[in-house]
Amino acid sequence: MSRSTNYRNPVLDLLPDYVGGRSIEEVMRERGVSRVVKLASNENPLGPSPEAIRALHEYAHGAHIYPDNYCVDLAAKVAEKSRVRPEQVIFSTGSDNVMQLAIWAFGKPGTYALAPSPGFLGYEIFARSFGLEILPMPLPNGLWDLDRWRNEARREDVSLVILTTPNNPTGTAFTHDELVDFLEFVPKHVTVILDMAYVEFDPNSPPDTEMLLELHENVICCRTFSKAYGLAGLRLGYGIAAEHHINDMKKLRTPYAANGASLAAALAAMNDEVHLHRSIDLARDGVEWWTENLTKLGVEVLPSSANFVMARVPEAPQIFDLMLDEGVIVRHLRAFRLEDGLRITCGLTEENEIALDAFKKALNTLRGVGQGL
Ligand SMILES: Cc1ncc(COP(=O)(O)O)c(C=O)c1O
Repeated sequence: MSRSTNYRNPVLDLLPDYVGGRSIEEVMRERGVSRVVKLASNENPLGPSPEAIRALHEYAHGAHIYPDNYCVDLAAKVAEKSRVRPEQVIFSTGSDNVMQLAIWAFGKPGTYALAPSPGFLGYEIFARSFGLEILPMPLPNGLWDLDRWRNEARREDVSLVILTTPNNPTGTAFTHDELVDFLEFVPKHVTVILDMAYVEFDPNSPPDTEMLLELHENVICCRTFSKAYGLAGLRLGYGIAAEHHINDMKKLRTPYAANGASLAAALAAMNDEVHLHRSIDLARDGVEWWTENLTKLGVEVLPSSANFVMARVPEAPQIFDLMLDEGVIVRHLRAFRLEDGLRITCGLTEENEIALDAFKKALNTLRGVGQGL
């Protein structure tokens, strides 16, 4: 076969592959285990709301019809909950895609986007694909210190700031007031993308979208139905921003990018506050439980406001591997350039217990029994 000589966008050579967590099927096959506990992708262990499942069944009968491109019903619901106007809301295929639209629309090629380091792996891929580079902003000991970002945000070669609260993979968050203080220093021509994928879990004064947008028009909030609402498989995220920013992003969005099944399920999920609160409570209890138990083992755990914890332990790669032998998938943070980092999603009580036993067994194997573990 002759080699193709078609044009290939040179940006492709700059893009790392997105490395996701290991899948259940892969681990079953590879390790010969029949039961797998997956605590690797920050999904909701309770699954979707029963109301969302009902709505999906009902929706299936109309799957041959294109969905509502304007997402009117869900926009009204989101707007009511966030105290904004429906025109200030955009839906798309995961908050990933909402962020892509924001970077595409407001990131100036040839400039930098500030982003937390460690941070969500998607940022680098999205920024580079639109001709920007990430300027990594370290989180000292995993904690946010937005004062340190002020000078960088004022650089001439910066057109975007990406902030994540709570952050992935650290779980660490900043408050509404800390953000507002920081935004005073950000020039108005710089767009701030606020990734709030885990914000529902944050117990400590997270940013308030309405108040934020009243003060700062250059902020775009990105949110998702993948985490607290338990709909990761349906791929639905949304952005909230000033109406003219939302209109710009809508121009770039693929038609019908928010699919009908996800819109139906998300509306039902938003109406089921009981399931949402059960999900949030489970995650908060899980964070407390993991933090306490890992700390008891002498393992460092960052203070998490999300539905996962990040642990630092020198033997992280080996522990990750030995836990797979026990049918437990957590996330080793090599792709985040944290060789000693493990991220563990809070699961159901019994899943957490199985995973902790596997963690302890791995540590015993590596450090030798009799080390007080
Ligand atoms: C910080 C952060 N932002 C965004 C996303 C993407 O979420 P979605 O499923 O809405 O695309 C994730 C997914 O894990 C995440 O961790």
